[in-house]
Amino acid sequence: MALKITVIGTGYLGATHAAAMAELGFEVLGLDVVPEKIEMLQRGEVPMYEPGLEELLRRHVAGIEGASGRLRFTTSYEEAGAFGDVHFICVNTPQKHGEYACDMSYVESAFDALAPHLTRPALVVGKSTVPVGSAARLAERLAAAAPAGADVELAWNPEFLREGFAVKDTLHPDRIVVGVAGERGEELLREVYATPLAEGSPFIVMDYPTSELVKTSANSFLATKISFINAMAEVCEAANGDVVKLAEAIGHDERIGKKFLRAGIGFGGGCLPKDLRAFMARAGELGADQALTFLREIDSINMRRRGHMVELTRDALGGGGFLGKRVAVLGATFKPDSDDVRDSPALNVAGQIHLQGGQVTVYDPKGMENARRLFPTLGYADTALDAVRGADVVLHLTEWREFRELDPATLGDVVAERRILDGRNALDPDLWRKAGWTYRALGRPKA
Ligand code: UGA
Repeated sequence: MALKITVIGTGYLGATHAAAMAELGFEVLGLDVVPEKIEMLQRGEVPMYEPGLEELLRRHVAGIEGASGRLRFTTSYEEAGAFGDVHFICVNTPQKHGEYACDMSYVESAFDALAPHLTRPALVVGKSTVPVGSAARLAERLAAAAPAGADVELAWNPEFLREGFAVKDTLHPDRIVVGVAGERGEELLREVYATPLAEGSPFIVMDYPTSELVKTSANSFLATKISFINAMAEVCEAANGDVVKLAEAIGHDERIGKKFLRAGIGFGGGCLPKDLRAFMARAGELGADQALTFLREIDSINMRRRGHMVELTRDALGGGGFLGKRVAVLGATFKPDSDDVRDSPALNVAGQIHLQGGQVTVYDPKGMENARRLFPTLGYADTALDAVRGADVVLHLTEWREFRELDPATLGDVVAERRILDGRNALDPDLWRKAGWTYRALGRPKA
C-alpha cells in the first residue's frame, strides 16, 4: 500500500513539501499549530507569496473542485500520529533572541507532541535546519516517548529549496541527502522520493551528524561566495575597478562558477544569516570555533554593505544629513519573487535612512504588507512611479524584474533629481545614463 505522509509545520518549507508530496501521488496530512494557517490552506490559499505554490496546492487540497483530494490539513497531533507512515518535521529554527544559537523550541515541541501518538511503526524525518548533534539527541527522545518504541525510526533529510523556486526545487531536487541510523529509513525515503530518483536526482546516504552539517555548510559556502564578491566590490571601489566585470571574468573559470557572485547590498532572509551564526555558535560548543572564525568576517562584510549603501546615498545627496530629503526605495523583500522581508537588506537600508531623518517611500511588488507590519513608520506607495515622485534620490534595493523594465524617461519626469543608486547591480547603467540620470552602483566606477 502507498505510504501515507504527514508534514508537521506548514510554513514555507512545510506547505511546499506537503503539496509536492501530494503531487508525487501520496496521501498527505499537513499539520500546523496555528489554526488560521490551516484554515487558509484548507481553502487552497498560501499564507505567503511563492510562484506556482498556490496552483500546486489547489490541484490536491480535498474539497477544492477538480482537486485530487490527496492533501488534507489538521491541527491534531493525534490524527497525524494515526494517519502517517512517514512524518516530515518542517518547523522553523529561528535565531535565538540576543544569541547566535538557533532556537530549537519549535522542533522540540513538534517531536514531543507527535511522539506519544506513534503507536505503530513509523519513520520520522527531520527537515528543519538544526545544530549538528540534534538528530542523535532527538532519536533518543523519540525512542523513549513513542509507544511503538524501536519501531519508530528517525532520519534527517535537509532541504535545499530556494524561496522563489520552492516548487521546482522540491519536485526536482538537485540532490537528496539523508542521514540515517538504520536501513529502514533509507528504504522508506527511497520510496518517498522514487519519482525524483527516477529522474536522476542523486541520493546521498550518510550518518546523522554529516547530514546536519551538509545543510549548514552549504549555506555557509553560499554566504561566503556572496561576501567574497562584496569584499571585491569594496576593493574595486577603492581602486576604481568594476566588480561586475570582475565577477564575469572570474566566473568563466568553472572551478569558481558564475552563480552567487552578484555584488550588492548583500544577503538576508530567514536562512543564510541565522544559519551562519548558529553554525558558529555550535562549533564553539564543540570546541571547533577556530574552524569557523572566518564566518564572523563573512557576516561582517555582509552587514557592512547595508551601512555602505546608506553612506553612498548620503554622498549622492551632497554629503550632508538626510533631514528633509526624499528617498525612494524600490524593493523591500530580501530577494525577488518572494514576499519575505525577514532580515531584508533593502528594508534595513530604508529603516536606517528613515531613522536619520530622511523621508523614505518604499514600493515592492509583493512585500508591501509584510514590510508595513515590520516597519510601519516608513512611507509606502502603491506603484514604483508613485514611490519616486518628488524623490531626491532613488535606491534600487531588490532586483525585481518589474524594476529592470522601468522606463528611466518616465520616472525621470516625476523625480526631483535624476539620481539612482543600484544596490543590486541589476539595472542597465547605459539605459539610465542615456535618459539623463546619474547612475551609481556598488563596486563600480562612478561615471
Ligand atoms: C538559501 C539557500 O540558497 C537555499 O539552498 C537553502 O535551502 C535556503 O537558504 C534555506 O536554508 O532554507 P534563500 O534564503 O531562499 O535560500 O535565498 P538565496 O537565493 O540563497 O539568497 C539569499 C540572499 O543572498 C538574498 O538576499 C539574495 O539577494 C542574496 N544574494 C544572492 C546576493 O546578494 N548575491 C548573489 O549573488 C546571490
